[in-house]
Amino acid sequence: MEDGATRSVLLVVGGGIAAYKALELIRRLREHGLRVRTVLTDSGARFVTPMSIQALSGERVFGDLFSLTDESEMGHIALSRSSDLIVVCPATADLLARMVAGLANDLATTVLLATDTPVLVAPAMNVRMWTHAATQANVATLRARGVTFVGPASGLMACNESGPGRLAEPDDILSAILRLLHPDRPLAGRRAMVTAGPTHEPIDPVRYIANRSSGTQGYAIAAALAAAGADVTLVSGPTTLPDPAGVRTVRVETARDMLAACLTALPCDIAVCTAAVADWHVAPAPQKIKKTAGAPPPTLQLVPNPDILATLSQPSPTRPGLVIGFAAETEHIVTHATAKRLRKGCDWIVANDVSPGTGIMGGTENEVCLIDAAGCEHWPRLDKTQVARKLVARIATFLQTPPPNPE
Ligand code: C5P
Repeated sequence: MEDGATRSVLLVVGGGIAAYKALELIRRLREHGLRVRTVLTDSGARFVTPMSIQALSGERVFGDLFSLTDESEMGHIALSRSSDLIVVCPATADLLARMVAGLANDLATTVLLATDTPVLVAPAMNVRMWTHAATQANVATLRARGVTFVGPASGLMACNESGPGRLAEPDDILSAILRLLHPDRPLAGRRAMVTAGPTHEPIDPVRYIANRSSGTQGYAIAAALAAAGADVTLVSGPTTLPDPAGVRTVRVETARDMLAACLTALPCDIAVCTAAVADWHVAPAPQKIKKTAGAPPPTLQLVPNPDILATLSQPSPTRPGLVIGFAAETEHIVTHATAKRLRKGCDWIVANDVSPGTGIMGGTENEVCLIDAAGCEHWPRLDKTQVARKLVARIATFLQTPPPNPE
């Protein structure tokens, strides 16, 4: 453990073509103010050089178990104990097997055997090696011993085969590292966007179409996401609320501005659309529309606005991993909201009853149902900040659930 606030990561770089991604990971960890010391295995050194690692980490690279220089500066026991987290990236099938067997035949495995520091493993290997019963048994054993895994991802690999086995993206590994370093901040390293408030659609320079949304629920969600460690962009229509602390707030006026600001906030992991977006706009008159005695009142030609939630939900490489919409209904709440989830293509929808008399629209409390592909869950009437915290806890659990094993 380092003195003071600087957190320290010991990175074990195994062999494999994915080792080059460890360089990007080191860069990202340093950007987050973390100290990174590296143990480079012999096979890892065939793919990346100690020089590149040293240049990026600003630290000398450890490699040889028997090097007197290494031992005089930092013994392997001290190296394993003086870090807050050990990250094995990339972890080969061989390295996993040696960890399971408790071998200590190089500096990497010796450090891993000598430690009681939490260990995160990012595997990378051929799909058949990953799905092999031996590797899966090794993964299960390591998990049972408390080792955390991130990835592997699925896709085309350097060997031209496709399936699970690719190293997780450096950003995903970074997120996993930040969560392990800050367990009280389960969304550390995640990016989120929240839309909130009404939109104003100008009719002329002094008049606009608006609605009664206060933005309270969306602001509370943005604040709760930030408190859970997420990097949050709040895209807000006009409200009287102050910018939530620790959140990047982008103020917009119209639905089209809101969509543009949301697209700028991509890529992100989580999108929560709470805004009461106007369904239509008009082509605004350049000057104030004048009343003319005897003339018929002007007619407004309404033009549909873009649907931000539906746009963000569309399949695309930058689609957020979790897109959440809101449905304010006055009757047949669950039926209408369930249909809306499918129509918009979002993952979850938070439905609430905004009938007159509920006091929900513009009030401080909310009573919602959370609807996902599995069904509907009714939450009790809660303060909007409590609804926000409960939703964020759900988001954190969802994002932390490891993908099912390929077996
Ligand atoms: O279609 P409706 O307005 O009932 O859908 C509500 C949900 O869709 C909310 O999550 C709202 O933020 C989102 N929405 C949007 N863009 C629109 C209309 C609604 O993002 N133009």
